[in-house]
Amino acid sequence: MPNLDHKNTILELQDISFSYATDEVIKDVSLSIHKGDYVGLIGPNGGGKSTLLKIMLGLLRPQKGIVKIFNQDINHFKDWQKIGYVAQRNFFDASFPATVEEVVMMGRYGKLGFFHFPNKIDQKKVHQALQQVEMTEFKNRSIGDLSGGQQQRVFIARALVTEPEMIFLDEPTAGVDAKTQKQFYALLEKLNKQLNLTLIFISHELDILAHQATELGYINRTLDYFGDPKEFLKGEYFHELIGKSGIHH
Ligand SMILES: Nc1ncnc2c1ncn2[C@@H]1O[C@H](COP(=O)(O)OP(=O)(O)O)[C@@H](O)[C@H]1O
Ligand SMILES: [Mg+2]
Repeated sequence: MPNLDHKNTILELQDISFSYATDEVIKDVSLSIHKGDYVGLIGPNGGGKSTLLKIMLGLLRPQKGIVKIFNQDINHFKDWQKIGYVAQRNFFDASFPATVEEVVMMGRYGKLGFFHFPNKIDQKKVHQALQQVEMTEFKNRSIGDLSGGQQQRVFIARALVTEPEMIFLDEPTAGVDAKTQKQFYALLEKLNKQLNLTLIFISHELDILAHQATELGYINRTLDYFGDPKEFLKGEYFHELIGKSGIHH
């Protein structure tokens, strides 16, 4: 259950249900996320993780329940620069005609508006974000020439350029090797601690999340668990869940 001794709730779901057609994909989900939390979301394929993330981002509207961001009903929320999103499988291939720096600058476009060229502040934020993900030396490289792991860092930088308070990541480590994955998790932990950046992270890597996340959610249409990751690992129903879900542990 949500850890109620945290202060400063920045995202709240109250009794959310959602269906694309007739079947309910998300059913009666409630949770609270607090400033600085590192939330890991796990669950079986098709369990509704990506759907839940899109509901939190306002990309999908639930048929039932209330979503609040920064204590405001999501339907009235406008401050989207406070939110970053790294979607599932968005790698560029070698033909994509943009440099690393240009891809990160795209994250500023929401602030730039049409027909405004990037100014010094935009450039400064881009360089700052590239530094944070340790990709400065690659700034003039073509994005498509980078490895999957390097591209991921660039996508994080793109999400960081509006100086968000909260970043959502949907399986960003899918399809990269173990070493790259480990470096990526180390980067996330650093951003979470140093910037007090709130992270909401979908992953199958339960063993890593269990050590890094402050909250773990298990979603299989209903939210079967939400709370301390270590308690989840000790829980009696954990082995039963893992047996069915193909989660790495
Ligand atoms: N755009 C869509 N239209 C209809 N059904 C969808 C759509 N996206 C996902 N679904 C269905 O909703 C369920 C949950 O999917 P999803 O949220 O992607 O799960 P997960 O991310 O946990 O794998 C699945 O049964 C999936 O087939
Ligand atoms: Mg998904």
